[in-house]
Amino acid sequence: MNYATDLPRPFFVLAPMDDVTDTVFRQTVAGLAAPDLFFTEFVNVDGLMSVGRDNLLKKLRFAKSETNLVAQLWGLKPENFRAIAEQIADGTLARELGLPDGCNFAGLDLNMGCPAKSEVQNGACAALIRPENRELAGQIIDATREGLHGRLPLSVKTRLGFSEVDMSWFEFLLGHNLDMLTVHGRTRKEMSKVPAHWDLIGAVAKMRNLLAPQTLIVGNGDVESREQGEALAKQYKLDGIMIGRGIFHNPFAFANPLREDNPLAWENCGEAARISLYRRQIELFASTWQHGERNIKTLNKFCKVYINGFDGAKELREKLMQAPSSEELLQLLQ
Ligand SMILES: Cc1cc2nc3c(=O)[nH]c(=O)nc-3n(C[C@H](O)[C@H](O)[C@H](O)COP(=O)(O)O)c2cc1C
Repeated sequence: MNYATDLPRPFFVLAPMDDVTDTVFRQTVAGLAAPDLFFTEFVNVDGLMSVGRDNLLKKLRFAKSETNLVAQLWGLKPENFRAIAEQIADGTLARELGLPDGCNFAGLDLNMGCPAKSEVQNGACAALIRPENRELAGQIIDATREGLHGRLPLSVKTRLGFSEVDMSWFEFLLGHNLDMLTVHGRTRKEMSKVPAHWDLIGAVAKMRNLLAPQTLIVGNGDVESREQGEALAKQYKLDGIMIGRGIFHNPFAFANPLREDNPLAWENCGEAARISLYRRQIELFASTWQHGERNIKTLNKFCKVYINGFDGAKELREKLMQAPSSEELLQLLQ
């Protein structure tokens, strides 16, 4: 995929979310109201190049129908980024996942924004924003690009800074000829505790115009609907909008147009429709993860999404969240 020519403006992206945006949930969202681009959960390249590989591959699993999926990587060793980028670009990794010839990821993204302590204290993810780690960040980008060898687009997803807003970070990234740059409008220190600073995402887009007109800028943070995203893209002159947690409040967040009488408006979905959507996701979960690769409890996040907003939802939800298997979940929903 060529992001610059193949995507509409603004384009919409479902955010990578660990333990959420696996192939099952992505296919579910695609069946409701699809964004233009999806991301995998973040996957550790150092783990993929170790004996732990088999256990991590599930995070990269995808279906043949998923033709617009970006693989998101994180890690520390540039040589491992190079090796995994090579395996992704030449299709080896997709074949290992059981995909037929011709099926591959649409691009590769580098996570330089995850704020979690476990990653940051090793110097990975958001820690790469710190000036003392900039050399490593550059080596990771360069090594990944070498592995890709022009066969797939390369992007970075990051935050506005580590402890403070740091525009020198964007000057640095925009000097690396990225195809796309996603800016989550908060610093690492701010975690998700304050509203996203969209004016600063707009400032990055302005900087892009001067330094790297070829790099598409995607804004991210607190967007709940396509309408809101379109307005923000227009106001701050952005190419794309990424929605994460908004999908939990409205599984049709990417629907267009959102009108009050729209059948795709979540508020218009009653008990039967919500239960039926959850059933569909559980059925796909059961047929995809047949060997217990995913803990059944990962479905509980979605239980809160669907089993909500109707009489008796709370009581039903309490029972569902204790269910030990997909069979039992489906039985309770009958
Ligand atoms: C449960 C969860 C898991 C996440 N996992 C990832 C991840 O694997 N990679 C990543 O780049 N960001 C991850 N994020 C951050 C989101 O992609 C997004 O940047 C953040 O939630 C802000 O967007 P939002 O306000 O639309 O949710 C995660 C967020 C949540 C809530």
